[in-house]
Amino acid sequence: MSAAPTSHPELIAWVENAVQLCQPAAVHWCDGSQQEYDALCDLMVQSGTFTKLDEKLRPGCFLARSHPSDVARVEDRTYICSRNKDDAGPTNNWADPVAMKQKLQGLFSGCMQGRTLYVIPFAMGPLNSPLCKIGIEITDSPYVVVNMRIMTRMGRAVLDKLGADGAFIPCMHSVGAPLAPGQADVPWPCEPDVSRKHIVHFPEEFSIWSYGSGYGGNALLGKKCLALRIASSVARKEGWLAEHMLILGLTSPQGKKYYIAAAFPSACGKTNLAMMQPALPGWKLTCLGDDIAWIRLADDGRLYAMNPETGFFGVAPGTSNKSNPNAMASAARNSIFTNVVLRPEGDVWWEDMGVSPPEHGIDWQGKEWTPACDRVGAHPNSRFTAPAAQCPVIDPDWENPAGVPLSAILFGGRRASTIPLVNEAFNWEHGVFMGSAAGSETTAAAIGLATGVRRDPFAMLPFCGYHMGDYLAHWVALAQRADRAKLPRMFFVNWFRKSADNRWMWPGFGENIRVLKWICERIEGTGQSVETPIGHLPAPGALDVAGLNVSSTDLAELLAVDIDGWKKEAADVAENYQKFGNRLPAALEQELRELGMRLSAAT
Ligand code: OXD
Ligand code: MN
Repeated sequence: MSAAPTSHPELIAWVENAVQLCQPAAVHWCDGSQQEYDALCDLMVQSGTFTKLDEKLRPGCFLARSHPSDVARVEDRTYICSRNKDDAGPTNNWADPVAMKQKLQGLFSGCMQGRTLYVIPFAMGPLNSPLCKIGIEITDSPYVVVNMRIMTRMGRAVLDKLGADGAFIPCMHSVGAPLAPGQADVPWPCEPDVSRKHIVHFPEEFSIWSYGSGYGGNALLGKKCLALRIASSVARKEGWLAEHMLILGLTSPQGKKYYIAAAFPSACGKTNLAMMQPALPGWKLTCLGDDIAWIRLADDGRLYAMNPETGFFGVAPGTSNKSNPNAMASAARNSIFTNVVLRPEGDVWWEDMGVSPPEHGIDWQGKEWTPACDRVGAHPNSRFTAPAAQCPVIDPDWENPAGVPLSAILFGGRRASTIPLVNEAFNWEHGVFMGSAAGSETTAAAIGLATGVRRDPFAMLPFCGYHMGDYLAHWVALAQRADRAKLPRMFFVNWFRKSADNRWMWPGFGENIRVLKWICERIEGTGQSVETPIGHLPAPGALDVAGLNVSSTDLAELLAVDIDGWKKEAADVAENYQKFGNRLPAALEQELRELGMRLSAAT
């Protein structure tokens, strides 16, 4: 074992135990340096995991192709192991912690034979932030190490901060593919039997074990596992919020700046909104984060949000210079592409990239591909991993350890009908109700989900580390500690309405600034609204649609309240609420009741 670059006895003992259990051929403590990153990339080019992209077209970039069994998060293999089953709640897979630990001991025993065990010290949040949390990930995947270097603050500085007795969250990861002596490796080692993959969280002792997958949130343990599932449990205990939200800054033509956080389910355009180019002149948008926000109530009575990550792990298909030029620029260099098409000239391509496909290329499965093939070239959940610092509109305060004060919180999802373009909550409790009622048509970000609308409260369904009813109560209770006048206003948005003839009714992307503008006007007290049974909607003429190519009929439908549709919506929310039993906060039951009464009164 290479000498540990730390004097932290607990950390050293934990790594020694892992070495004994996993029996790797070598141990490497990551220092987070550029040399180390380059050496690991070279190693993966030699092993066939990485293809180096053309240096002129994509400087410092690599392409990886995963095993076809390992392409997205595996929600049905993801566990919350609290002592008491009820504490994991009805929306999580629960397993008994003692039995699960025994099972994991079996799975991890000898699982790194023939491989190197990497120790990755990483921090979520700036090291000097009051919310910063340190994790140590042990992994046998160099792909994970280099992605973690983009996505987190990683390496020596973290060990320095940890000192000899700092607290850390242990994160064990293995691809689950030991090598027998002389056995040749494969480009993407993993456990192909999905039933043996396990993504396990122990929310009472704050630890993570992940076995069998090398992909995204299953393997980059700082992201969904630590910064959401474990952090949500920590946050509940410590009185803050760990959320599946983007953070953006918006400066009005008058020079006033607003910070907005927004919770949308996976693959619903968070990255696009987080770094959107406003179509209205004079408005400037800056990005602080595209996926996760840690939010705390500060001494001045305001909620401050901070992005714990340092990179974007964005969905590639659909990302183009039209839909998201800033994401394209962020991934122009020093980035990793997974499961997209390789062009013959050494660049990448994916569906809806806004450039012509290559006449022939290599698809995400490593097969010859042409546009005439009757299959997609890039996997629908193919990704780019890009450094946030490369985003042309990164906010100057994105690494501010204090975070930024929020003026508004948005919720949303993909909804073809019923849900209007924008709707403002009456107050905090009604806003929490809106978040709790969020739903979305399912996407490719997770394997094996039934199609149709799935209720996804606060876009946290796959990411909440404890009982969702308690989580909602934690949100409701926050207002009791806060100065209500200083709390962010809450809104529900829906960019995804479809007409009866299946057209998108709203152009989305940069035009969403029109909705954000009305939101800022509401905050200022100047935006006109109409009070409806579901909330405050823009009054006729209040939304700036100058120069926009949306018919007045479509606009009216986008801003109408479909009473019958909403009655069905309320019934579906009520059914979903049943799951939470007596842990559903009374305030939300009351909101649902009052919504029902307002809808009945409207007919
Ligand atoms: C993500 C997700 O990768 O939500 O961000 O699945
Ligand atoms: Mn996400």
